[in-house]
Amino acid sequence: MGRKIARKLAKEHIDRGDPTGWFEALYSEAAGDPSIIPWADLKVNPGLEEWLGRSRIRGDGKKTLKVGCGLGDDAERLTKLGFEVTAFDIAPSAIQWCKKRFPWSRVSYLVRDLFHAPQEWKGAFDFVLESYTLQVLTGDLRRSAIECISSFVAPGGTLLVIARGREITDPPGEMPWPLIRDELKGFEAQGLKEVFFERYFDKEDPPVLRFRAEYTRL
Ligand SMILES: C[S@@+](CC[C@H](N)C(=O)[O-])C[C@H]1O[C@@H](n2cnc3c(N)ncnc32)[C@H](O)[C@@H]1O
Repeated sequence: MGRKIARKLAKEHIDRGDPTGWFEALYSEAAGDPSIIPWADLKVNPGLEEWLGRSRIRGDGKKTLKVGCGLGDDAERLTKLGFEVTAFDIAPSAIQWCKKRFPWSRVSYLVRDLFHAPQEWKGAFDFVLESYTLQVLTGDLRRSAIECISSFVAPGGTLLVIARGREITDPPGEMPWPLIRDELKGFEAQGLKEVFFERYFDKEDPPVLRFRAEYTRL
């Protein structure tokens, strides 16, 4: 049901030229019921968890930015591991919800728009996590999002991107719109170096193709 409502709100807002307005509309319509939010499974992204288990990255107070934090589960996981986390979302209702779920959290939860991020965030983060935001943005917006996300990575820092993927020959599908591999090249065009890229199928039923890519700024 959640996905149907989200798709309807997305279409209405996109059709009237407000492609990011539907996020707040959806969170406020949900009024605290996570079953209305299609991506809200109230647990850490398994693709992040798996990467953390095998990556050599350590929290160690690393300045960390979670893009489009939703209900906060990934940000909470990182803060528990010792990362110093700022997590932001365009939807005020999502941020309120995070603060309600995690009232004692050390995460700094902020209402911010990726496309109008604070100047001081430029090159300021040792670790940036983007999971599942790009796939709810389309066209030029997705290209600008890649530019903005890249700009946050400090020299020597790490960016991890996790996204729904599709082969170029597959149809674009409905929201969430999977990415093709070539779109991720946009991060390298912004001066980042790809450390690894992988395709994998998650454990959903039916399994969904995901892309996971790690970048650094030399
Ligand atoms: C598909 S959800 C994923 C949420 C979370 N990362 C997760 O995996 O549960 C994408 C999130 O990005 C947020 N978002 C979309 N556009 C944004 C923007 N321009 N700036 C900040 N957040 C944005 C939405 O409000 C939504 O919470």
